[in-house]
Amino acid sequence: MSNEMSPIDKAKFVAAKQATEYVTSGMKVGLGTGSTAAWLVQCLGEMVREEGLRIKGVPTSTRTAKLAREVGIEVITLDEAKWLDLTIDGTDEYDANLQLIKGGGGAHLQEKVVATASDRMIVIADASKKVETLGAFPLPVEVIPFGMQTTKALIEETLAGMDVLGQEVTQRQAGDDPFVTDEGNFILDLHLKRIGAPQTLSLALNQIPGVVENGLFLDICDTVIVGHGDGRVTVR
Ligand code: 5RP
Repeated sequence: MSNEMSPIDKAKFVAAKQATEYVTSGMKVGLGTGSTAAWLVQCLGEMVREEGLRIKGVPTSTRTAKLAREVGIEVITLDEAKWLDLTIDGTDEYDANLQLIKGGGGAHLQEKVVATASDRMIVIADASKKVETLGAFPLPVEVIPFGMQTTKALIEETLAGMDVLGQEVTQRQAGDDPFVTDEGNFILDLHLKRIGAPQTLSLALNQIPGVVENGLFLDICDTVIVGHGDGRVTVR
């Protein structure tokens, strides 16, 4: 770990490092996506190369797959693994009940598929990700490109009847182009500010044809490892 690390990077690093304690040889591990998960992959790679750790990793994005291979982790597909011992991933928000919003990196579809195919999901985060109520972070919804405007209109209609504070829906961009996920889909970001009833919202969104998956991770995560800028770690 570099001494020149910013407090936020240090917080992410120490959370990731602590999460490696849950990983033992022989495990099949879901590898999350994002800057915090990237620290985890680096740390696990170091353990593979220098301590003889033997794991099989199932990445949740092409980015993570590339990094995992680069650092020496054996990469397999979810179908090859069938079931995982645990998944470790970052988050955009978590609340006191360990409910999450994910997908800031546009990978929540694979992340959710992998996490739900795991005995447990551990989240690693810096302390800024803790919220009283989910929704300050825009909720990502992955939609198929076909009929995207119609799907967007149906989402807006659905939001009108929900316990949320904001209802703006924007399409995620990558520069001048639409952001495209690993599955070839688009992302709509829902600027809700406050989500009063996440279960109801999640079910309603996923019932809309054209919606593939939303970024609410409800009753999936069992542990959150929180890193702090001074190097402390707390486990929830
Ligand atoms: C990617 C995610 C990430 O876990 C989330 O965006 C957190 O990213 P970071 O660790 O960079 O803050 O859900 O789809």
